[in-house]
Amino acid sequence: MMNYDRLPLIKGLKDYMEEKNARFHMPGHRNEDSVEEFSVLKENLYRFDVTEVEGTDNLHYPEEIIARSQKLLSEAMGSRESLYCINGSTASNYAMIFGLLKREDTVLVQRNCHQSIYHAISLLELKPAYLMPEMIKEFNLPSFITLSELARVHEAYPEAKAVILTSPTYHGIVTDLSPLAEYCERHGLYLLVDEAHGAHFPFSPLLPDSSMKTGAHASSVSFHKTLPSLTQGSVLNLSEKLTEDEIYRIRHYHRVFQSSSPSYPLLASMEMARYYMEENGEALYRILLDRVARLKKDLKNISGIRILDKEQVPIFDETRLVIGTPLPGAEMDRILREEYHIQCEMSEGRSLIFILTPFDTQKDLESIFHALKSIRSKHEKRWLEEEEVEEPPHPMSSHTPVRRYTEDDTLYLPAEEVLLKDASGRVSMEKVVPYPPGIPLLLPGEVITEEILSALTLYLSQNANLLKTRSIRKDRLSVVKEGSMQ
Ligand SMILES: Cc1ncc(COP(=O)(O)O)c(C=O)c1O
Repeated sequence: MMNYDRLPLIKGLKDYMEEKNARFHMPGHRNEDSVEEFSVLKENLYRFDVTEVEGTDNLHYPEEIIARSQKLLSEAMGSRESLYCINGSTASNYAMIFGLLKREDTVLVQRNCHQSIYHAISLLELKPAYLMPEMIKEFNLPSFITLSELARVHEAYPEAKAVILTSPTYHGIVTDLSPLAEYCERHGLYLLVDEAHGAHFPFSPLLPDSSMKTGAHASSVSFHKTLPSLTQGSVLNLSEKLTEDEIYRIRHYHRVFQSSSPSYPLLASMEMARYYMEENGEALYRILLDRVARLKKDLKNISGIRILDKEQVPIFDETRLVIGTPLPGAEMDRILREEYHIQCEMSEGRSLIFILTPFDTQKDLESIFHALKSIRSKHEKRWLEEEEVEEPPHPMSSHTPVRRYTEDDTLYLPAEEVLLKDASGRVSMEKVVPYPPGIPLLLPGEVITEEILSALTLYLSQNANLLKTRSIRKDRLSVVKEGSMQ
């Protein structure tokens, strides 16, 4: 008899599994027993867990089976070359940024980018100039970048070497990349796209075009987020626009940022995801998108529910279900899990986000509709009252952050904690990251504004999951100590 008291991690995972939730979160597989192709991986999980010996090739210097697999991968991705990455798109992002930019280069960066981009900027001491996203007012949501915003910021920072965009966003919002790519081409800028949430795009013409198709120099795609790959599987795509020297440098950093002992089961799961989707993706996504359209239509009939789609966003990934509700997202998330055995990907403000894949059954999708309908009737009074609640505008809608220090500089500065109400105008020592989605609200070295403070207060009142690095108490923020500013 196994003593699970001494196996807390395994026990926790087992407990979660035994809840038998309908899962609408990463990874993009649903442990599908019905798909025959996956059985070769499941049955051989431990047997496939090998190292670099005769016949198994080497991820860092591929010549044989990995090289052949990457060749097929690049054909599927529409790239000049695609590299497997076993440390997620976090490492793919590092490799493309380090490979193409030099220390202290200026870069034009979408402000609502993932923390891995901020980490790369910090490590390489890049100078970021922020591209501010369009706001989706109905959802209080930062979204895509327009050509005019790129041109505006580039004019102010003509020395910039690259544009770093996130498309699609966590919410499935895609930037219309073609005109931006053309602009970058004309002005000698690299276009690097964090496409972590868009790995599935090349597998169906009904999905938005991938960034390799619309002109990026390089892109990172997380296979594990939307495709049936094990967690941490990512692919770094390199386009025909890059020279041999540039690709050589990217390959170098691709080695630097990854384990020297890559997991073969993980690599094999990425290969299978590519193969399976090449064989079946077109048909599967047609069925899924059909089901999603019906689900959205039904959901829109529940009064108070709002659905993010092409009405608000010109290019949208319909496999991402973003639902606005009158009740706070964190509360809805909890009710769905506890009372209806549904786990969404994340909640924020008054929204819920679900990641839908071809492996979700019709019944699972319908369960979302039935649950929301039931929650609405059980909580009718509050539902109607809170429909009228207005949230303060998102801080990214009104200001470009002012950066006094780099994140690295702040590591050497003295800190003090002040009450939130006294923090306006001070320089933050804190990184505040609502997680997920992992997009920093405030970075160390930035000036704290009233907008940031009211967003922070709102997040706290909604019990949102905020990652913080220093401040322990909820009502305080760590700032640069008075009198120590240089
Ligand atoms: C937009 C974006 N980029 C990059 C990443 C990092 O990807 P990974 O988890 O594959 O390392 C994430 C993770 O959530 C993300 O949302």
